Amino acid sequence: MSAQRQETVRRLTAPDIAARKGQTPVVCLTAYTAPMAELLDEACDLLLVGDSVGMVVHGLPNTVGVTLDMMILHGQAVMRGSRRAMVVVDMPFGSYEGSPEEAYANAARVMKETGAQAVKVEAGSAVVDTIDFLVRRGIPVMGHVGLRPQAVLVDGGFRAKGKGEDERARILAEAKATAEAGAFSLVVEGVAEGLAREITEAVQVPTIGIGASAGCDGQILVTDDMLGLFDWTPKFVRRYADLRGEISQAVQAYAEDVRARRFPGPGETYFAKAG
Ligand code: KIV
Repeated sequence: MSAQRQETVRRLTAPDIAARKGQTPVVCLTAYTAPMAELLDEACDLLLVGDSVGMVVHGLPNTVGVTLDMMILHGQAVMRGSRRAMVVVDMPFGSYEGSPEEAYANAARVMKETGAQAVKVEAGSAVVDTIDFLVRRGIPVMGHVGLRPQAVLVDGGFRAKGKGEDERARILAEAKATAEAGAFSLVVEGVAEGLAREITEAVQVPTIGIGASAGCDGQILVTDDMLGLFDWTPKFVRRYADLRGEISQAVQAYAEDVRARRFPGPGETYFAKAG
């Protein structure tokens, strides 16, 4: 990338995303690596270095085992690969819930070491004060309400949220409190359309839905899901490609060529210069 080109591209920031409330929907995807970030950058407003990286890339059963060092390493890669989209890095389980001070120390490390524009926290009522603490000290925060994957061990699985009246009211209250605490945007995950619309109307900041209907101000998906890299696709995902099938076919063709000595051919071989 030339120095001149770098100068002309301005990265989107938390205020840019916040200003999109009720405007053209905000386009977001997850990214964990530099080459993928480079591919997604032009079409996306926001790239989330989600702690889903633990399941998608590292083969963990859930996101509980993801560490701050993993998030920083992937955050750095995504920053290197992108130049226009806002980059948000997830705070992993155990890095922000203990106290606002601990959350600040860890979030500041993420901001300094990755250069990302914000962090995301899964915003149960226990961390509303922490969000306020971080934002007042200069760290933009994205909230995350509804299905909170880091609560999987308490919930006993990944299930849509807000079906009963008590839970619906609690999630709505958490969304309002998170926005009032200063979050610039809210991921709303795994809730029915009615609740997604209610949250979107109740808060002043953009809601970014995942499995939360078209009633949000933007959408996010796990990139590997929408590219068809997994066998199983959740109901709320639309598969825009079948990369799993394409990769299997390509690898099969390569294996057949190697076994039949068709690869490498003359065009893929170095020859000593004559004379
Ligand atoms: O970790 C992640 O990828 C996320 C998205 C599912 C929003 O939090």
